[in-house]
Amino acid sequence: MGEAIKQVGVIGAGTMGIGIAEVAASHGQQVVLYDAQEGFAEQAMAQLQERLKKRAFKGKISQEQITEWLARIELVDDLAHFSACDLVVEAITEDLAIKQALFKQLEIITSSLALLATNTSSISITAIAAGMQDPSRLFGLHFFNPAPVMKLVELVSGLLTDQAHIEQATAICKSWKKIPVKTQSSPGFIVNRVARAYYGEPLKMCQEQLLGHRQIDAIMSEAAGFRMGPFELMDLIGIDINYAVSQTVYQAMHNDPRFRPSLIQQEMVHANTLGRKTGQGFYSHAEGAAKPKPEYIHSDAEFDLLTVPEEMTHFSRMFCEFEHDQRKWKGDEVVVSGCRIKPTDGRLAKDLEVALNGPVCLVDLSFDYLNSQSVNVCFSPGVNQFMRNRIVALFNHMGKQVMVCPDQPAMVALRTIAMLVNEAADAVFNGVCSARDVDLAMRYGVNYPKGLLAFAEELGWSQIAQALEHLHQWFGDDRYRLSPYIRNLA
Ligand SMILES: NC(=O)c1ccc[n+]([C@@H]2O[C@H](COP(=O)([O-])OP(=O)(O)OC[C@H]3O[C@@H](n4cnc5c(N)ncnc54)[C@H](O)[C@@H]3O)[C@@H](O)[C@H]2O)c1
Repeated sequence: MGEAIKQVGVIGAGTMGIGIAEVAASHGQQVVLYDAQEGFAEQAMAQLQERLKKRAFKGKISQEQITEWLARIELVDDLAHFSACDLVVEAITEDLAIKQALFKQLEIITSSLALLATNTSSISITAIAAGMQDPSRLFGLHFFNPAPVMKLVELVSGLLTDQAHIEQATAICKSWKKIPVKTQSSPGFIVNRVARAYYGEPLKMCQEQLLGHRQIDAIMSEAAGFRMGPFELMDLIGIDINYAVSQTVYQAMHNDPRFRPSLIQQEMVHANTLGRKTGQGFYSHAEGAAKPKPEYIHSDAEFDLLTVPEEMTHFSRMFCEFEHDQRKWKGDEVVVSGCRIKPTDGRLAKDLEVALNGPVCLVDLSFDYLNSQSVNVCFSPGVNQFMRNRIVALFNHMGKQVMVCPDQPAMVALRTIAMLVNEAADAVFNGVCSARDVDLAMRYGVNYPKGLLAFAEELGWSQIAQALEHLHQWFGDDRYRLSPYIRNLA
């Protein structure tokens, strides 16, 4: 059905609008582009031309393609030019009243068969459609920045949206080689709802003085396997933008503590330390400023060799090269110099030491233990210096840097990932989207290494459930309440 769309209208020639225009033009559609500010659309076209030239220089596209694509984009100075569009995508300022006014005009100007979509990232589709004569026409077509690069598009249904339009939009997105996911209009849709935990939980750990932001970034990227640490990412997004989205989602969720914004971020907004754009955020982005190094511990001690069990788990696969010695294995546990090395399940190391009647070294969660560059560990009080050295030496020998964190429930990566999984699960539980779509959304909208629900399944739901229950007990905060979706599976 994507082929039936011949002409696409884009309103707003800002960051998103020009990107969406490029997507359509590069897939053979005629584009009409309008911006209310005089000269903005011309400026955006000039920038697009520069961007395309750079891509041609790298050999990614040809000069002919650039000429063809640009020729397909027509700049217009009046909405009347949208009358022949088969699809109109609005990408103007994020303001309910302005968007409502625009769609009231558009439904009159366009044919009744034309698809009308908004690229809003935070406003309810139902609310925008409320001013229209036919609210069933509007849906959200939520691209991610940069639109030509990011694969994900969220197709958002308002309460009254006609599902036939969503089906048509799905076909169009596929013809653009995008990955469409379906979601109901609810705060943050999928990505901006679920991803809140990736910022909120690390910010809370920083506030609690558990660790500094540099160390948490290193744990989340080098050990857990995310492409970027949460604080580096917030600096990139802009602290003000990230804080505004957090506030919007929190308020729209009627102050659910799971989405409570951080006071650290609020202070940074007051101080105008907004990340890369102001030269200072969590890190200095001044010319020549070097990023501080995380703290690692090393040991040149002898390391103990291990035996690999018949059935390796997500955790024990990490030790698979150590097949030579006769050390005893039991499930997810490696014993080195009398100390058990175990993946964290959310309990404190000191409690486990009592329960197991022996010292314990807990290892934080990783999407890929085998290939991770680092491990984050925590020692119970009974781990002596000799054991510590042996354990650190073993990890160093495996080519991994070792970071140590204080003994707190669920450590750093498990705590954050458990909160992410809980949110993903709760979105499905509440009918926001399907399990398949929440996983696709997080993989292609924010580049998570795996789908969150698929990963929880691989890991065992009980590990996520236990982590959340320990956190809930420890903090006494409803923020950590377990989604019934997980309770059912665990
Ligand atoms: N920037 C992002 O990362 C991102 C990602 C996804 C969605 N969005 C959403 O996309 C929309 C646009 O965001 P953006 O970042 O491109 O904004 P932007 O500020 O870069 O561009 C908005 C453009 O719209 C124009 N405009 C404003 N009112 C207009 C009107 N009534 N008619 C025509 N043009 C008008 C402005 O002149 C401006 O050029 C917003 O709804 C935003 O929430 C943004």
